[in-house]
Amino acid sequence: MTKIYGIGVGPGDPELITLKGLRILQSCGVVVYQAAVGQRSNAREIVAQYLRPDQVEVVYHLPRSLAATAIDYDKAIAPILPYLDQGQDIGVICEGDPLLYGSFMYVFTRLQGKYPIEVIPGICSPLGAAAVLGLPLSYRQDVFKIIPATLAVDRLQAELTNVDACAIIKLTRHFAKVRSVLEKLQLLGRAIYIERATMTAQQIIPIELVDPDRVPYFSLILIPSATRL
Ligand SMILES: C[S@@+](CC[C@H](N)C(=O)[O-])C[C@H]1O[C@@H](n2cnc3c(N)ncnc32)[C@H](O)[C@@H]1O
Repeated sequence: MTKIYGIGVGPGDPELITLKGLRILQSCGVVVYQAAVGQRSNAREIVAQYLRPDQVEVVYHLPRSLAATAIDYDKAIAPILPYLDQGQDIGVICEGDPLLYGSFMYVFTRLQGKYPIEVIPGICSPLGAAAVLGLPLSYRQDVFKIIPATLAVDRLQAELTNVDACAIIKLTRHFAKVRSVLEKLQLLGRAIYIERATMTAQQIIPIELVDPDRVPYFSLILIPSATRL
């Protein structure tokens, strides 16, 4: 029976996929990835050098809007369905970790219980970013949070009030809102901005120099622990 693997490929550096992820990726007859319509898949870019011409590649497009319904997601994963029951294993690759804000989760929740599924974890972007920035993130009883920048300003402010350490992801057009909340809470001095962490196009830009109109999808802010021991 076809088995589905959710494979985390890590934050961008192709060497940051796990040994298990790479072995399973190369054993799958079908490789599936998510991409925005008209754009290339970042997960595929990360593992491009490991793919073989005889592997069938299948792309699916997730809805972009937060208003998307379960039916929209059902439709989005439809391109995968013809490959189920063909007997070949299917590797669904996902940037970072598959179960942390990962595109794989929409496949997982729809096919779980119908097919055997195994998830291979990946290094998530906050941890990839912390490593390249050399930032100890959390000590002892520090609470580390991952906060989506898409939150409304009140919730964002509530989550960031008295924060020990955090990663703020999904910045893009929400950057200016996040920056003003950080300024209000006097956190700007501790906030570190990074684009495309661990990728060849990685950039670390002082937060005050970031142009809010040019914040790419692959960007995040880290606030490391203030503890020093
Ligand atoms: C939908 S979430 C996916 C998270 C991913 N599954 C993970 O484990 O890191 C996408 C967000 O993760 C962050 N992200 C992912 N890869 C990144 C990278 N290499 N550098 C900076 N931010 C990244 C960005 O904030 C982006 O908007």
